[in-house]
Amino acid sequence: MRPPCVIYLVLLLFSSLCRGQRSDSETKKKPSCNRCDLQLSCNCSCGGFVAVPMVTGLALTLDLSFNNITVVTDDDLTGHKPLRELSLHGNRLAEIHPSAFQSLWSLEKLDLSDNQLTSLNQTWFSKLGALQQLNLLNNPYSCLEPVFQPLVRLRRLAFGGPDLKELRRGDLSGVTQLEELTVHANNLTRYESGALAYIWPLGRVTLSLHNPFLTNQTLASAVLDDISYPETQIVLEDIHLMYHESAEPFIVISNRRVRHLTFRNFSVSDEAIVNFLNKTNGAPISSLIYDAVTLTGEGRWESAKWTDHKSVDEFYLRDAVVLDVFKFVSFFNLKYLLQYPRKVSVINCGVFVMPCNTSRLLMNMQYLDLSDNLLTDLTLEETLCNGDGSMKDLRVLNISRNALKSLSLVSRLVAKLSKLTHLDVSRNVYSSMPQGCTWPSTLRYLNISRVKLRTVTPCLPITLEVLDLSNNDLKDFTLFLPALRELHLSGNKFLTLPHGWLFPNLQSLTIQSNTLNMFSRVDLQAYERLQNLQAGQNKFVCSCDFVAFLQSDIKGAGDVHLTDRKENYVCDAPFHLRGEIVSQVHLTIAYCHRVLFVSVCCVVALFVGCLVCVVLWRLHAFWYLKMTWSWLKAKRSSRQQRRNQADSEALVCFDAFVSYSERDARWVEDFLVPELEETRENNDDATNPRNSQPLSLCLHKRDFLPGHWIMDNIMSAMERSRRTIFILSENFVRSDWCRYELDFSHFRLFDGTADGNAAILILLEPLATDDIPKRFYKLRKLMNSTTYLEWPLEEERRPEFWRRLRDALRGEEQDN
Ligand SMILES: *[C@@H]1O[C@H](CO)[C@@H](O)[C@H](O)[C@H]1NC(C)=O
Ligand SMILES: *[C@@H]1O[C@H](CO)[C@@H](O)[C@H](O)[C@H]1NC(C)=O
Ligand SMILES: *[C@@H]1O[C@H](CO)[C@@H](O)[C@H](O)[C@H]1NC(C)=O
Ligand SMILES: *[C@@H]1O[C@H](CO)[C@@H](O)[C@H](O)[C@H]1NC(C)=O
Ligand SMILES: *[C@@H]1O[C@H](CO)[C@@H](O)[C@H](O)[C@H]1NC(C)=O
Repeated sequence: MRPPCVIYLVLLLFSSLCRGQRSDSETKKKPSCNRCDLQLSCNCSCGGFVAVPMVTGLALTLDLSFNNITVVTDDDLTGHKPLRELSLHGNRLAEIHPSAFQSLWSLEKLDLSDNQLTSLNQTWFSKLGALQQLNLLNNPYSCLEPVFQPLVRLRRLAFGGPDLKELRRGDLSGVTQLEELTVHANNLTRYESGALAYIWPLGRVTLSLHNPFLTNQTLASAVLDDISYPETQIVLEDIHLMYHESAEPFIVISNRRVRHLTFRNFSVSDEAIVNFLNKTNGAPISSLIYDAVTLTGEGRWESAKWTDHKSVDEFYLRDAVVLDVFKFVSFFNLKYLLQYPRKVSVINCGVFVMPCNTSRLLMNMQYLDLSDNLLTDLTLEETLCNGDGSMKDLRVLNISRNALKSLSLVSRLVAKLSKLTHLDVSRNVYSSMPQGCTWPSTLRYLNISRVKLRTVTPCLPITLEVLDLSNNDLKDFTLFLPALRELHLSGNKFLTLPHGWLFPNLQSLTIQSNTLNMFSRVDLQAYERLQNLQAGQNKFVCSCDFVAFLQSDIKGAGDVHLTDRKENYVCDAPFHLRGEIVSQVHLTIAYCHRVLFVSVCCVVALFVGCLVCVVLWRLHAFWYLKMTWSWLKAKRSSRQQRRNQADSEALVCFDAFVSYSERDARWVEDFLVPELEETRENNDDATNPRNSQPLSLCLHKRDFLPGHWIMDNIMSAMERSRRTIFILSENFVRSDWCRYELDFSHFRLFDGTADGNAAILILLEPLATDDIPKRFYKLRKLMNSTTYLEWPLEEERRPEFWRRLRDALRGEEQDN
């Protein structure tokens, strides 16, 4: 057996056991990224990572863009089965292990753009059957490999870059139907006809074909020929149409009956425009969009006057720059172009006026967007022909982001546009609203956002269905708008929601970034039809009611949906909750129902107290307590007295204290007192003359000091007596005072100030220990430990009884 083989096997076993949970040394090497949110979307962008960091295996989205990752190894992404989106955009990725993406079965979106990949590898994508979007732009590969075969669900594909030189037939085999195709092929030098031909339907194609348009129009035409379909939107980027020939490829566009053509980052000369117009004569292009256009010419396009561009319905121009603006001729000669479009947008083109004459040429126009230009009140008057209703079909007018100051002027200028439904005057400098305005009765949509309004007035037309007043300085809204469906009030200074009854038809309300403290279900119920509410980023006071209401609403309990992210609802107060997301706040019952909580606590405490009292009362604890107190007091006073009078004997002035029940008083008075207190002449017991001496008894009836508390009396009586005689009977057992006396004597027994025989028990009637109630346990104990004298019913046994009693009473003296 060869040892290396065994080691290898052991290693193999070990590594297969440890797959998934990486070994320690590896964990140490790897950085980790914890920037995942509640939706399991991990944003590890711009983290300075040089290798794929460790991220929770539950992540659904992983953004690793703009790091310095150079390589993806085979186990960097194992354990990421749920991952849907992965972006490695903007790294320095030069190497991807062939099986790096093997476990990403759920991946739908993969972005590898802006890296250093010099070639593509088919194995990367072999397991990505779920992939829908793939971005391979701007990597230094010069040609494609047929790598897309396994991507059966692919809908968006982007590839190419400055290094792409060649596209061959078969490179895109397997790619059949796309929503979007983006090809950066500015430096393409070889194109095999048909390379892009088999993709259909194709929703939108973006082509960057700078060099081909400039130098190799045949190649450009071949590319266009393969992707042009009537229903495909074609976007041509980075094109520089310099010469007459540069526009030649558009004959393909025309022949293939393309309808939607967009130019982006496009510069063009007069020559090329004229040729473009000639080449597209009669073509069914319906929308022409120019985005970021540089016009290098002077607008001399008259030679194309004969051409037909009836089909152009939408003309969109944005970010246009006219290099030589002062030489540029007016648009007045362009009637053949201007009379057809229904939709015209000229955005951010430095337009400061559109002469009334030109406006009148735009006969079919229904939609005019002049946003982001340099119009002023004065030039707007000219543009709208002083409000004479020239553009009679106009439905939408957008003059957002100009330098307009007077809202009443705008309202006057549009008043005669009897079809106008949408008016956008946002981002101008209206700082106040006049009291009354005239609007066309058709106006439904009005956008007056970002204009620094402080109040709203009845200037607003009652017909409005959508009103945007966001980003102003409004504090309240008190206008009745019965038709309003949508109201935008974000970025104002509202402290409370406006009253719901003002908007009986409102379905959607946006009131983010105000200073709302809270709102309640009642507030929302005032809006009869409200369905969607966005109210995040306010200064919420997280009271219990508000938190409970919002949490239940976030879960969808109410009729109104909160359509913004729940992370936007953050507590501002109270202080200890500041910054916490409302949906995650947890308030205790003690905090939320303080009054109830305190009341319940009090009631419970009271109840428990009562219960304890009852129990204590049942157990006679108060008696013991009172007694203990008295005993302590007595002890203290006796100690004091003893200190005062060294001779404690002087205190003792009775031979015995008699403790008895009131009901046994007769027996005491008739028998006990006469027998013990009177001198006995006929003494049979001559041996002990002291026996016949009278004894002094202390009876509460006779010897208690009037006016003193009965307890004190009892105690002092017992203190001052040498012995205590208990007359036991049923009555005694029933009497509380007797029990007290008994207990007290018991204390004395253990107190040390009295001798062991301080108590003498006389049983008047037979009393079994078991008949004595439990609480008389002292008595029971005494009866068990001390011998007691029984009062005989027979006359002849009584002298014997008295003798024994006397003996007991004198016992101490005998002992001495
Ligand atoms: C990537 O590394 C380079 C040098 O290696 C450094 O200049 C650059 O700042 C790093 N980029 C990031 C995003 O960390
Ligand atoms: C590709 O085209 C760009 C202009 O888009 C140019 O600057 C660059 O030199 C070209 N690269 C090659 C390899 O031809
Ligand atoms: C616009 O196109 C030119 C080539 O015509 C290119 O060099 C430039 O980078 C492009 N600009 C943008 C913003 O794409
Ligand atoms: C008006 O133009 C602005 C800026 O271009 C845009 O944001 C807004 O949506 C437009 N309004 C309408 C009604 O199209
Ligand atoms: C109102 O105009 C602003 C700025 O032009 C824009 O962002 C906003 O979307 C418009 N509002 C609506 C409801 O279209």
